[in-house]
Amino acid sequence: MLAQTPPMGWNSWNTFGRNINEQVVRDTADAIVNLGLKDAGYEYVVIDDCWSLMQRGADGRIIPDPEKFPSGMKALADYIHSKGLKFGMYACAGTTTCDGYPGSFDYEFIDAQTFADWEVDFLKYDYCDRPKLANGPILYNRMSMALKATGREILFSACNWGADESEKWIRSTGAHMYRSTGDICDNLKSFRDIMESQIEKIAYSAPACYNDLDMLIVGMNGNGNVGAGGCTYNEYRMHFALWCLFQSPLMIGGDLSKMDDACIELLKNKELLSILKDPEARPPRKMAQQYPQVQWIDRHVFFKHLSNGEYILAFFNFHDSYEAAFKVELYDLGITVASGYGFEGYEIFSGERTKGVVKNFFETNVPTHDCKIYRLQLKK
Ligand code: GLA
Repeated sequence: MLAQTPPMGWNSWNTFGRNINEQVVRDTADAIVNLGLKDAGYEYVVIDDCWSLMQRGADGRIIPDPEKFPSGMKALADYIHSKGLKFGMYACAGTTTCDGYPGSFDYEFIDAQTFADWEVDFLKYDYCDRPKLANGPILYNRMSMALKATGREILFSACNWGADESEKWIRSTGAHMYRSTGDICDNLKSFRDIMESQIEKIAYSAPACYNDLDMLIVGMNGNGNVGAGGCTYNEYRMHFALWCLFQSPLMIGGDLSKMDDACIELLKNKELLSILKDPEARPPRKMAQQYPQVQWIDRHVFFKHLSNGEYILAFFNFHDSYEAAFKVELYDLGITVASGYGFEGYEIFSGERTKGVVKNFFETNVPTHDCKIYRLQLKK
């Protein structure tokens, strides 16, 4: 069974956009192995839009652009497989892709077979230029079943940006992950907006079909196709921690040949990846503000159950200039003073331990544009 935990890999779009070619893909596959990202769980190497010619062949099949991919897709798949990785490609449910290349509408079964013949393991399926009368459930069902009909195991990554309340039906189509928002840009506002738009919808995300908050911007530093200002390291840390907390698929979007060591280490953070891969995939619960006199503007607190009996209490400060003094009443998490219970544990980035068992209130200060993530146990 696919996607029992959120799928992980790399996708070409955020950095390379139209400028994708087989050398970039091969170099990225090498880097995923050499930088230890494969060992951390990143396995799918995905070519996004703009890989084909503008016209199909006489047999109706899509033709890879021979200038960008002179060795062809099967050879590229072989190379990626030789590294112990998996190969992903991109197509679109409409008549053209989002960048104007041939779409799969009415060619679904031909295209699925073409991908299977190339030994593709993952298909991202976009939603641009769809005919008005063909709705999302029809189109995603169709390609999902076309892929299954090939007999090859292909992870189906739906990308309809949350349109038509897709969280309510996308799981029924056989999709293994589903983009729930518009495209990410490389800045704090963009990843914050995406995260906040999904707080109320994240409970739909579960094993076999995960809410995809979009490709990661970690380490892009304002460069590439979606570069739009860039983020500080601490902001990338907030972004990555949120994606892990929400158990979003993790598709690296940066250029691995240029990424700094701190960001590579962040992508491999064992604590965060263990939250990402928690098998129960329980949604994080957003804590409400308890004290009206302390405004929780630009702040978020999330509480999450892990399957091993531990808990995550995560604090995010989005305020541009103020440190945040957080105070969470344990009563609001269900723990009464009379029970005698409190939380004991540590903050995952600093390793700093709580002062014994914390009862009644959990307090912590978080600098501007940063986060603290506590891994806790219930103790008396
Ligand atoms: C859409 C998708 C992006 C990317 C582009 C390619 O905008 O949401 O992730 O695939 O199309 O054109």
